[in-house]
Amino acid sequence: MQNGKIKTDCKADKSSCAEPCEALCAAGYNSLHAGDLSSAIDFFERAVALDADYIHSYMGLAKVRLPGDGYIEIIKKLIALQKPEKYVEIGVEKGAVLRLFDSSVQIVGIDPEPKIDAVPANVTLHKSLSDDFFAAHDLELLLDGSFDLAFIDGLHVFEQVLRDFINLEKIAASDSIIMIHDCLPLDRRTSERQRKTIFWSGDVWKIIPCLKQERPDLSIFTVPTYPAGLCFVTGLDCHSRLLKNNYDAIVEQYSPLDYSDIQERETYFSMTANDWPTITRTLSDNLARTRL
Ligand SMILES: C[S@@+](CC[C@H](N)C(=O)[O-])C[C@H]1O[C@@H](n2cnc3c(N)ncnc32)[C@H](O)[C@@H]1O
Repeated sequence: MQNGKIKTDCKADKSSCAEPCEALCAAGYNSLHAGDLSSAIDFFERAVALDADYIHSYMGLAKVRLPGDGYIEIIKKLIALQKPEKYVEIGVEKGAVLRLFDSSVQIVGIDPEPKIDAVPANVTLHKSLSDDFFAAHDLELLLDGSFDLAFIDGLHVFEQVLRDFINLEKIAASDSIIMIHDCLPLDRRTSERQRKTIFWSGDVWKIIPCLKQERPDLSIFTVPTYPAGLCFVTGLDCHSRLLKNNYDAIVEQYSPLDYSDIQERETYFSMTANDWPTITRTLSDNLARTRL
């Protein structure tokens, strides 16, 4: 999820819409806490209609639509389970995920504009675009081997996510895990290539139908977690050149996908329930399949 200041397309003047939005969101959160989900959705949808860039409008809507643990909690639990020794993150921003790791974990972070004040000693932070980083560095050499866990959360456009995936898979071990953030679109406006809202997951979502179709050898599932879903990809094959060799054709095929092309969401995005026992069972089943 990418935040930040952008010009809004809200027609109303801020002084006239901030207050009603604030009141609608407060009512939305009250309904949410009281367990009245349909009222909560109604309040947040009205807030979105009034001012899509009042940040709590979409955040509230995402909270109601994607209940349960948020992505940070899930990654925290995964770290405790997997005990990764080497971690790579594309798009680190303030380091909210980097901070979850023990100081013994070797971490490579890549971000052109990180907002981390003090970089921990176990983190090598590369201030660059991911494409530039992969063009200039041999990640395998930097890590002295493969990674256990990687997180793609940089630029939220489909072909960038595809390139980040290709570059990471090149050095993956058979039991490495790649997580892709923001792959469940909340609505059309927040999931377009062109950013129009502060709350923006872009067209990252196209990576799911793409990988499912082009790489049936991979195991993929998506957890409907706040704020915009978290996808787990295993069964990685460092020798596969399929995505790289067919990159142009793949981009041409999947970039034009439209929000209306999304079929029944559970199947389209290979969703599991957002509960930890289901996530661990699915992940260990998928990892076991790659060992066969
Ligand atoms: C949503 S934030 C990442 C949040 C972080 N992963 C977390 O969970 O706390 C996205 C970050 O991606 C970075 N970014 C944007 N384009 C990028 C690119 N081409 N390569 C790497 N990082 C990029 C931005 O500077 C921003 O800090």
